[in-house]
Amino acid sequence: MIFSAAQTNTLESFEVVPTGAPVGAEILGLDFSLPLPAAVAQALVGAWHEHLVLLIRNQAMTSWHYLAAASVFGKPQPGALRQYFAQAGQYDPSAALGVPEITILSNLDPDGNPVQSNAGLGSEEVVWHSDNSYIDEPPAGSTLYAQEIPSDGSGRTSFNNQYLAFEELPDELRAAIAGRRSKQDATRNSAGVLRPGVTLPTRPQEVPGPMHPLVRKHPATGKKALFLGRRRVWPSQYIEGYSNGESEALLDRLWAHATQDKYAWTHVWQVGDMLVWDNRCAMHYREPVNNTERRVMWRSQFHGEAVIAA
Ligand code: SIN
Repeated sequence: MIFSAAQTNTLESFEVVPTGAPVGAEILGLDFSLPLPAAVAQALVGAWHEHLVLLIRNQAMTSWHYLAAASVFGKPQPGALRQYFAQAGQYDPSAALGVPEITILSNLDPDGNPVQSNAGLGSEEVVWHSDNSYIDEPPAGSTLYAQEIPSDGSGRTSFNNQYLAFEELPDELRAAIAGRRSKQDATRNSAGVLRPGVTLPTRPQEVPGPMHPLVRKHPATGKKALFLGRRRVWPSQYIEGYSNGESEALLDRLWAHATQDKYAWTHVWQVGDMLVWDNRCAMHYREPVNNTERRVMWRSQFHGEAVIAA
């Protein structure tokens, strides 16, 4: 990558290359370890709003560069999971980094060995979800920065376009969820692991977590997106105002619609890749990771707003 003598990012070197899928673009000519003029930051945010997910490869960032990079898109905040470790008095693998706004997401045990399951996402499959949808004001977006990746490339992460999923929602489903909210289950993470200190509910009324609108308006683009958030095995997510059976049947159809391959793009990670995505209009999924090799990512997320019903 060639930079100007002033060693700063410039609009001239900046290029947006769409993935060709309904979501995602790669940004070329950007180095987050160099100063980022306001015009370049503005162009980045514009590309993010247009493509929902941005990939920036070959980055060599300290934790402070990484926080500064995330700050382009919003105000970084600590991941919601970390409070569960603190409340339960359990070992928090991210504490070692010493930056509350950066979470270490890995498949390692406390001794640094790759394992299938740990207190986070381990090497498990991570089902489609929107980050921290189980809090009142879910983060607007999140980032991941690849530190160590298994040699077989396993642990690919997919993203999908929920503007498009809403646009193409069959009329009767659209009518069935108009003005409705769904429960966002806070009990388990997206790998199905019960959060530290949490008891499994036995009926819907016991499921902890907020109700969020099923169709939301993006505050920056004004567009409408389907907002399913997360769902685990029953009792988990449910739609307010329907019987359990009706709600389950609707959710089965909504999830099947929203997670179709035609809305998605998959990223194969290399060390140094940074991804930033918008939780308000995209969901993500991770395939299982090879549990014999280390996978270590830095993760950040940034403040959102109360979900705007559309
Ligand atoms: C996640 O944020 O759900 C994990 C994605 C990944 O590990 O690739």
